[in-house]
Amino acid sequence: MPHARITGVGSYLPDAILTNADLESMVDTSDEWIVTRTGIRERRLAAPGETTSDLAAHAALRALADAGLEPRDVDLLVVGTSSPDKIFPSTACITAAKIGAACPAVDVMAACTSFVYALHHATCAIEAGRARTVLVIGADALTRHVDFTDRTTCVLFGDGAGAFVVQAGDEQGVLAIDLGADGTRGDVLEIPACGAAMPASEEVLAKRFQFIRMNGQEVFKFAVRVIPQSVKAALAASGLAVEQIDWLVPHQANQRILDTIADRLGLPHERVFSNIATTGNTSAASIPLAVDALYTGRNLHPGSVVGLVGFGAGLTWGYALVRWTKEAR
Ligand code: UT7
Repeated sequence: MPHARITGVGSYLPDAILTNADLESMVDTSDEWIVTRTGIRERRLAAPGETTSDLAAHAALRALADAGLEPRDVDLLVVGTSSPDKIFPSTACITAAKIGAACPAVDVMAACTSFVYALHHATCAIEAGRARTVLVIGADALTRHVDFTDRTTCVLFGDGAGAFVVQAGDEQGVLAIDLGADGTRGDVLEIPACGAAMPASEEVLAKRFQFIRMNGQEVFKFAVRVIPQSVKAALAASGLAVEQIDWLVPHQANQRILDTIADRLGLPHERVFSNIATTGNTSAASIPLAVDALYTGRNLHPGSVVGLVGFGAGLTWGYALVRWTKEAR
């Protein structure tokens, strides 16, 4: 059976920065509250007219360049996103056209867990012999769905994209993946309207149902309960112990969630990567953005064991255990 390994990494953040001080002038909040409760200091905003596929295309081309490949070498393109450019065509198709890839292309929608789900799809396709070179992208412009009058959500989210090139090979890069979903808890974090269930209408706009709604405390409790379980399940499947994880890269949702997960796993905080202070919660983009930061910071080496942890709306969760096979860039 061919194995899946990561051969290229790239990411992209839009230029515009939204600081906590900017938010203080928009809603009743404070830099002190946001930093203490979330760890976030600033986040990026897609430029007017810049869409999720634009962010995805930038990250994809960087990942391909890192792998020494051209867009025509890709035989499957998977985009994880919850802020597609349009309901259809898929953001994957639009991204493929923008970068010049001519291959099957599909979106995976599992909210902030989308990147781990997309990596799972890529790994399955490679291990089944159905693809040799897969471009896996996590991209979101979730600030387009944020209500900037709602202080409980607008301080959290930012825009960005990250991508992996995943290729077939003899070396096993993706060691194990554990995924889960509890669809009975969909109302904890949702965008209620503008899908087929509640199309756009004046009433929708009046009630602001086109925006993200979240019960933050429920998501927090869910994440710190389910993620340690998922990490342990994937470790058991691969025969590794928690101490063998060199870097845990969780979805960057809240610094307190990251710290609690570390404590519950008995992992030193310095082995749990965080760049939330400067990115905020970029949803599907947060894990590949974080991995690219680790990689370009020369913190990943052949043999490094890296755990990628996602959680979010659905409710969904996912953990991918990866052995790094690339030289530091
Ligand atoms: O990608 C996955 C998606 N989401 C998450 O992972 C989110 C998980 N949850 C969280 O990160 C946290 O629950 C939040 C950061 C969203 C909220 O933190 P919290 O410590 O759970 O705060 P809280 O909801 O219990 O609110 C505490 C207080 C409330 O005031 P009262 O009722 O005590 O008077 C809120 O109204 O803080 C108030 N508050 C704010 N105050 C200033 C809520 N948002 C803000 C704000 N600025 N931005």
